[in-house]
Amino acid sequence: MRIAVFSTKPYDRRFLDQANQARHELVYLDPRLTVETAPLAAGFRGICAFVNDKLDREVLQLLRANGTELIALRSAGFNNVDVPEAERLGMTVVRVPAYSPHAVAEHAVALLLSLNRMTFRAYNRVREGNFSLDGLLGFDLYGKTVGVVGTGKIGLIFADIMHGFGCTVLASDPCPPSDARPFVQYVSLDALLAEADIISLHCPLTPETHHLIDAQAIARMKDGVVLINTGRGRVVDTQAVIDALKSGKIGRLGLDVYEEEEQLFFQDLSQRVISDDLFMRLTTFPNVLITGHQAFFTTEALTNIAETTLANISVFEQGSGTLHRVAVDERL
Ligand code: NAI
Repeated sequence: MRIAVFSTKPYDRRFLDQANQARHELVYLDPRLTVETAPLAAGFRGICAFVNDKLDREVLQLLRANGTELIALRSAGFNNVDVPEAERLGMTVVRVPAYSPHAVAEHAVALLLSLNRMTFRAYNRVREGNFSLDGLLGFDLYGKTVGVVGTGKIGLIFADIMHGFGCTVLASDPCPPSDARPFVQYVSLDALLAEADIISLHCPLTPETHHLIDAQAIARMKDGVVLINTGRGRVVDTQAVIDALKSGKIGRLGLDVYEEEEQLFFQDLSQRVISDDLFMRLTTFPNVLITGHQAFFTTEALTNIAETTLANISVFEQGSGTLHRVAVDERL
């Protein structure tokens, strides 16, 4: 099947080519999918998209009018797709439900450990011959209370790791999984916010979780709380977080995702002026560590993403086998 692959990076080509074995004709396109770039997919029965590709009503209608029937997401999250509109247009949306929950959970831990002991600042200091310890003071994770918001595949593994560190683990989830851990205590979001020393976000972005962490939620948190977000940027109200960093309410902030990341992430902007003032303000805090949506970025995850994406395309084409379909009524 001919597939237009949007937002392609060299590593995507490498892993997709390896998994494809020339089964499908993959046409790699550098641009992000938007209303302006959608015509590039004219005549392709399928398109393949990533997290910051925009599949809103307008783009879906354009794609459908140009012959596209299959949207193959090479991601787990599908908040960037207007799924009801895709269904109305008779388009099939597939995704990679789990490619490596370990990759994302471990990256959340990496952010937490780096922020706690300020290793990113220590690295620069030592290279410049500055061996002062001022400003690098951390705390023992052992004995602290960690709040996990969303205990699906990733949140549960994050909880396992934190339990291994000797932390008390609280969780909030409207639909706790069947394999919930015995050591995880489920509480209301309000109780979690009030009791946790460290809060890590692992829920999907939905209308209910949009700005779940806003000024009111932050006000309920402990002073000096550590907040980690590897979920989706829009789960957090960035302005509210900046205010809380200025007041000291939030003690440390680790982000792998950002509200307006579509304009920034996955590209080298080092020679350009970045006009996003909120993002630039975040980068000025000494106690903020941001990575550019790289939590998924491990060899194991990219291998699984490529294999599942191509299997989804084959199943769609052949009409038999397991299709990891996204449906309107999918339980989030
Ligand atoms: P999952 O579907 O296995 O689990 C999500 C959990 O969140 C479910 O248990 C669900 O009941 C819960 N949830 C839904 N609404 C909630 C709410 N209002 N409050 C608390 N919990 C809520 O998803 P998985 O695989 O664990 O991924 C979680 C999210 O992580 C994805 O939706 C995606 O946005 C993000 N992600 C980020 C990546 C990165 O590279 N930074 C890579 C992969 C996923």
